[in-house]
Amino acid sequence: MNPNSASSTVILRDIDFLVGAFARAPRVLKGGEMLDFPVLQDAWLHIESGEVVAFGRMEDFAEVFPSIDDAVELVSCSGRIVHPGYCDSHTHMVYAAGRYGEYVDRVRGLTYEKIAQRGGGILNSAAKLRLMPEDDLFDAAMQRVERAVAGGVVAMEIKSGYGLDLESELKMLRVIARVKAADVMPIRSTFLGCHAVPPEFDNASTYTDFVTREMLPAVAAEGLADYVDIFCEKGYFELPQTRQLIQAGRDLGLPSKVHVNQFNAMGGVALCVEMGARSVDHLEVLNAEDLAALSAAGGDTIPVALPLCSLFLDLPYTPARSLVDAALPVAIATDHNPGSAPCLNMHLAAALGCLRMGLLPIESLAASTLNGAAAMDVSQQVGHLSPGAEASLVITRPLNSVDEMMYAFGDPVVDEVMLRGRWVG
Ligand code: NIG
Ligand code: FE
Repeated sequence: MNPNSASSTVILRDIDFLVGAFARAPRVLKGGEMLDFPVLQDAWLHIESGEVVAFGRMEDFAEVFPSIDDAVELVSCSGRIVHPGYCDSHTHMVYAAGRYGEYVDRVRGLTYEKIAQRGGGILNSAAKLRLMPEDDLFDAAMQRVERAVAGGVVAMEIKSGYGLDLESELKMLRVIARVKAADVMPIRSTFLGCHAVPPEFDNASTYTDFVTREMLPAVAAEGLADYVDIFCEKGYFELPQTRQLIQAGRDLGLPSKVHVNQFNAMGGVALCVEMGARSVDHLEVLNAEDLAALSAAGGDTIPVALPLCSLFLDLPYTPARSLVDAALPVAIATDHNPGSAPCLNMHLAAALGCLRMGLLPIESLAASTLNGAAAMDVSQQVGHLSPGAEASLVITRPLNSVDEMMYAFGDPVVDEVMLRGRWVG
């Protein structure tokens, strides 16, 4: 393979397992459909000017390509899996610094909630972010994006939420806009002004009034957000603020993706469904009413599991098996952030989908690619390898099956990454 090649035509041949190539891709896979995420054995994939053009079986190769021009880059993928790149629909990639001190406190036995009560947590990140110049934040974010790409990520959602005042939230969102403008991959931007109540405000209610009346209109006026988000949780923002924020987003044409049910089930899922949220994220604590509300929505609101956060904070895992058995689409994302998931590894997240959440390997791969793309409305472009899709994909090291790929948890399996037809390397 030639990682630096920029040939505009690439043909991958002798692929042992080509995953996610549909004749015509669906927007999302729900319930039992997730098992049908296609796996074509002994396949080829034809890429032209950064897009997938066609795919097929090697037995037809000579007929489809009777002669191949020297300018075409022909790559043997013998023994390997080729799958759509990961679509990480929930990240907090813009922040000033890691929180290793708090990590050591947790190792000593303090909980995430206790650390937050002592002034650590999100407010600690906000204090540091407010002081950091935009250019430095951008450089740090781009480095993280590059690391994510090396692990096979080809589309990403990024949230604000460590500014918590107008100027600093705008600064974060402008950084995300610059990452978007770098145009390496589809990037979606989410305004998470209601991540925590900053010290300048007495309570969540007055701060949410400020967010909806002052911050959100300014964010929308600059076109800086694709979605709104709020941390719907005891001690952060309760149901009335969640409703107010989602409604304010809707009034400005911005759908919501909501942090909900991380520590407590308090009716937030039903509220998000009622308010037409695009996704509900976390769901570590999910009760029967929450599940019923999601089922009633029939998958219009996508549940997003964040297993790296469960692993890092030792929380329960989102009951992804029950969600899929209830005919819902499940997506898996990293939640990359300095407090609860300082990890960019989508392969590990997907492997935990099997190991801790009961998904079968192919379901977990669908959850972390196509369904992740759907959870941020980019599944026309990425999350599958169908004709017309971006040629953004992973070639694994030699593996016997998708089952082996998910079995190899925490072990590197990504050999090559292609972004829009170009090798990353
Ligand atoms: O998704 N739960 C809220 N927000 C982040 C954590 C943020 C932090 O600790 O900095 C999350 O886990
Ligand atoms: Fe998060």
